[in-house]
Amino acid sequence: MIYILDTADLASIKRCNEFYPLSGVTTNPSIIARANTDFWKLLLDIREIIGDEKMLHVQTTAKKAEDIVSEAKLLRERLGENFYVKIPIGEEGLKSTVALKKLGIGVTMTAIFTPSQALMASVAGADFVAPYVNRLDKIGGDGARVVAEIVELLDIHGLDTKVLAASFKNTEQVHKCALCGCHSVTVTEDILKDLISYPLTDAAVEGFDRDWRSVYGNKKISDM
Ligand code: E4P
Repeated sequence: MIYILDTADLASIKRCNEFYPLSGVTTNPSIIARANTDFWKLLLDIREIIGDEKMLHVQTTAKKAEDIVSEAKLLRERLGENFYVKIPIGEEGLKSTVALKKLGIGVTMTAIFTPSQALMASVAGADFVAPYVNRLDKIGGDGARVVAEIVELLDIHGLDTKVLAASFKNTEQVHKCALCGCHSVTVTEDILKDLISYPLTDAAVEGFDRDWRSVYGNKKISDM
């Protein structure tokens, strides 16, 4: 499983990058707008925090294939090799994906809501496809089911594209995706924290501390 952080909040990126086994950061225009700051400085700061070896996914705002390709080239030039341009699925997006693959630029096809969209994106050459789980659940759909079908389709057709499930609001959604073999998820800091929290874990650790202190006081193993 590849865990990616879905935010442009620098403090959150710093914290999560230090403590969690993250493979990178994803953003989208809404996330960037929420930060409401200088676009390039923000992205370069993110790159500095995560380093060159981790992935940075940034969405294009262009609509025509030629413009998407130009934006992707510019983003990749400034943000380094481990970069993926996020492109919403659509005719222009597919056309630009084919061109970008020839240039060796990573593509994450985003705003995916159906298995058919994902399959087409994969055949065009997308490295990742990003289905939005919670947005489907919210309208009475089954986001995890869609993710499972995409994983199955890619497997049946022997395609290398990875599924990067996105738009999560709780750990159950993440768990269902992990269970069906989804390759990667992009989540917020809150979800990361919830994924490792459990009341019995806290109680167990408190018990260990209490029992140790009852015999050895404040001594550490290095003092023994
Ligand atoms: C991925 O990068 C998506 O843009 C993002 O996860 C969407 O999440 P939302 O549905 O919470 O806006």
